[in-house]
Amino acid sequence: MRESQASSMSDSQLVLFLLPSLMSLLLILILVQRRQPRFNLPPGSMGWPFLGETIGYLRPYSATSLGEFMEQHISRYGKIYKSNLFGEPTIVSADAGLNRYILQNEGRLFECSYPRSIGGILGKWSMLVLVGDMHRDMRSISLNFLSHARLRTHLLREVEKQTLLVLNSWKENSTFSAQDEAKKFTFNLMARHIMSLDPGKPETEQLKKEYVTFMKGVVSAPLNLPGTAYRKALQSRSTILKFIERKMDERIERTKEGIENMEEDDLLGWVLKHSNLSTEQILDLILSLLFAGHETSSVAIALAIYFLQGCPGAVQQLQEEHSEIVRAKKQSGETELNWEDYKKMEFTQCVISETLRLGNVVRFLHRKALKDVRYKGYDIPRGWKVLPVIAAVHLDCSLFDQPHHFIPWRWQNNNARGSSNYTNTTTAASNHYMPFGGGPRLCAGSELAKLEMAIFIHHLVLNYYWELADADQAFAYPFVDFPKGLPIRVQHHSFTSKNCCIPVFRRA
Ligand code: HEM
Repeated sequence: MRESQASSMSDSQLVLFLLPSLMSLLLILILVQRRQPRFNLPPGSMGWPFLGETIGYLRPYSATSLGEFMEQHISRYGKIYKSNLFGEPTIVSADAGLNRYILQNEGRLFECSYPRSIGGILGKWSMLVLVGDMHRDMRSISLNFLSHARLRTHLLREVEKQTLLVLNSWKENSTFSAQDEAKKFTFNLMARHIMSLDPGKPETEQLKKEYVTFMKGVVSAPLNLPGTAYRKALQSRSTILKFIERKMDERIERTKEGIENMEEDDLLGWVLKHSNLSTEQILDLILSLLFAGHETSSVAIALAIYFLQGCPGAVQQLQEEHSEIVRAKKQSGETELNWEDYKKMEFTQCVISETLRLGNVVRFLHRKALKDVRYKGYDIPRGWKVLPVIAAVHLDCSLFDQPHHFIPWRWQNNNARGSSNYTNTTTAASNHYMPFGGGPRLCAGSELAKLEMAIFIHHLVLNYYWELADADQAFAYPFVDFPKGLPIRVQHHSFTSKNCCIPVFRRA
C-alpha cells in the first residue's frame, strides 16, 4: 500500500516535471508550423506507403499512347499532379509550359536527378547523373566530338557505310527482327566512332554480347542479388570497362613507343590527347556515350520502320525524294551521299519529327526542385522530385490534331499542329516539341540521331519493300521496345537505274 502510494506520487511528480517541457515542445511545433509556408500542392494521390504509385506508373502500355495511369491521373487531377514515385514525393507534369520551364531552369530552380541505381550502373561520372561544373566539362567534350563539323567530315560517311553493311546483309524474302538490325547498325557506328572498333571482329562481337547483358540490367529493377539482371549487368559493366581500359593502355603504349600517333579520329583518341580526365572519368564517359548513342537511335529507327509500313503514302513520297537525290548524283558522277544531299531530305525530316513525336523514345525526364517554386498557382516544394513527361505534350490533342496518328505532313511548312489541310503556319505545338529534351541538357547527339535516321531511311526506301511478318507494336516499359523485336519480311526493289524513276514494288 505504502509502496503504491510512493509510486503514484512519483508519477504525478514526473508529469509535473515534464509538463513545462511538453508545453514548450507543443509551442515550438505550432510556431514551426506557422512559419512554414503553406504549400498549395497540386491535387493527386500519394498512394501506398513507400511504394507510392510507382507500380501503376511503370505498368507497360502502348508507346503511341499515354497509358492508363497517365490518362486517368490527367483526367482526375489535371496536367500537373502530385504523386509518390520512385520512393519520393513527386510532381508529375504533362503541362507543356511547365515542362519547358523546368528544362530551361536547369541548375537554377531544378536539377537533373536520376534514380541512384542509374548512377550505380552507368557510373558516377556518367553525364546523366553529373550536375554543375563537371557536367559542363563532360558535355563540352561530347559536343566537340559530336559537332556539326565532325558530322559533315567524318560521321556522314561512316553512317552511310554502316547502314549499307546492315542493309546489304538482308536476303530476299527473308524474315528477321528489324529492331535487332537497327541495334546492330547503331552499335557498330558508335563502337567505330568511339574506339575505332571494326564490326564483325571477335573483340567487337564480344563487347556487343557484354553490352546486351549490361542493357538488360539498366532497364531492370535495381536488385543487386545473385542471379538478377541488375547483378549480371554490374558484372558486364566491369568487363566492358576493363575492355575499354585495355584499349586505352594499348593506345598510350603505342604512342610512348612512337609506333603510332594518338588516333584523333575517335573519341578515345580525342579525350586522351585533349582532356585531363582521370581514367575512371574517361571510362564512364565512353560507356555513357555508347549507351546514350546506341539505345535511343536504334529504337527511333525501328519506330520509323514500323510507322512507315502502315503509311504507304509517306513511303511513296520518300521514294520520290530519295530517287531524285540519286538521279542528281548520277548526273554528276557521284555515288556517296554528302551534306548537300542530306540537306535535300526535307520530307524525310518530317518523317523523323513525326516518328519521334508519336513514338516518344524518351518519355519523361528526372529532375528535382532546388528551391520552392510556384507555377500556375501550384507550389513545388524544394527537394521534391519533378517529372516532366515530354510524351504527354507530344500526344496532347490541344496541341496536335489527331495526336495518335502518324501524319508526317503535319511538319511541312512548319505546320506542326497537323490540321487537315496542312497549310496553317506553325502554332505553339512546335515550340513544345521536345524529343531531345531541352535547356542546358539538350541531347548532345540530336543531330547525329537525325542523320542516322535519314541515311538509313534513304537506303531502306530505295532498296526494299518491307512488311510486318508478325503483328507487333512498340510498348513503353517505360523504355520503348518491340516485344517481338519487330519481325519484318523484305523484298528487294526492282529499281530501274536507267530511268531513275520511282522503283516498282512487288508486294508479298
Ligand atoms: C533519337 C535518338 C535520341 C533521343 C530521342 C535522345 C534523347 C535525349 C534526351 C531526351 C536527353 C535529355 C536527358 C535529360 O535531360 O535528362 C538526351 C541527352 C543526351 N543524349 Fe540523347 N537522344 C538520342 C540520341 C543520342 C545520340 C545518337 C547520342 C550520341 C552519342 C546522344 C547523346 C546524349 C548525351 C551525351 C546526353 C546528355 C546531355 C547532357 O546531359 O548534357 N543521344 N538525349
